[in-house]
Amino acid sequence: MNSESTSKDLLSEINDHFRERLNKYTRRAFQMLPKIENPHILDIGCGSGVPTIELAKLSGGEIIGIDINQSSLNELNRRIEEEGFSDRVRTMRCSLFEIDFPDESFDIIWAEGSIWVIGFEKGLKEWRRLLKPNGFLVVHDEMRTVSNKLKKIPSYGYKLVNHFQLPEDAWWTEYYRPLEKRIKELYMKYKDTEALKILKKHQNEIDMVKRNPKEHSSAFYVMQKS
Ligand SMILES: C[S@@+](CC[C@H](N)C(=O)[O-])C[C@H]1O[C@@H](n2cnc3c(N)ncnc32)[C@H](O)[C@@H]1O
Repeated sequence: MNSESTSKDLLSEINDHFRERLNKYTRRAFQMLPKIENPHILDIGCGSGVPTIELAKLSGGEIIGIDINQSSLNELNRRIEEEGFSDRVRTMRCSLFEIDFPDESFDIIWAEGSIWVIGFEKGLKEWRRLLKPNGFLVVHDEMRTVSNKLKKIPSYGYKLVNHFQLPEDAWWTEYYRPLEKRIKELYMKYKDTEALKILKKHQNEIDMVKRNPKEHSSAFYVMQKS
């Protein structure tokens, strides 16, 4: 097994497989939007695209997923082809600090787990121009300072449509705990390979979460450009 295919297998065998368990929250947020015919969607920080693929299924729209990490995009490209979405879902390697689509390009901007990179307020401010009039911004972010964020939304030119918090232990019970169990099994399979480093990296992250599972909760914000 070469190291590239080992890493790719691992990525889908661990991250994506368990990340999909949280898709129910992506669906819940999507259902808070009104029906839009074939929406144009920008998925910022799409990674290997678990939410991107879910959005493709839910929306019937055209989606561009952007991310800085080419190997995650390669994985998403593979999924796009496998799922038969090549005609309407594509990826682009691009930093979220340098998004240069024309103004009013998108009906919906989706950002799960990525707005922290630029900061909640700056993200809201800079991404607004990309939305069509009355377009929607959906953000999935860590739960800290929810009430502050809610207060600030109108000052950045959005109306809060809805928001919800994931159950406090959702990340632990639905993602990290089953991931840890799987990693333990995979230690044997990958014991003499480079991939062991990847497993250890994930285990370190899990150990951190384990010390304080409730700190790792998150919330969705559904906003409309006003
Ligand atoms: C926590 S992951 C979320 C991935 C995916 N949205 C999900 O929910 O499964 C954060 C993503 O942000 C991407 N990212 C980090 N810095 C970035 C940047 N400057 N520009 C674009 N993407 C970035 C990472 O590569 C990673 O894929």
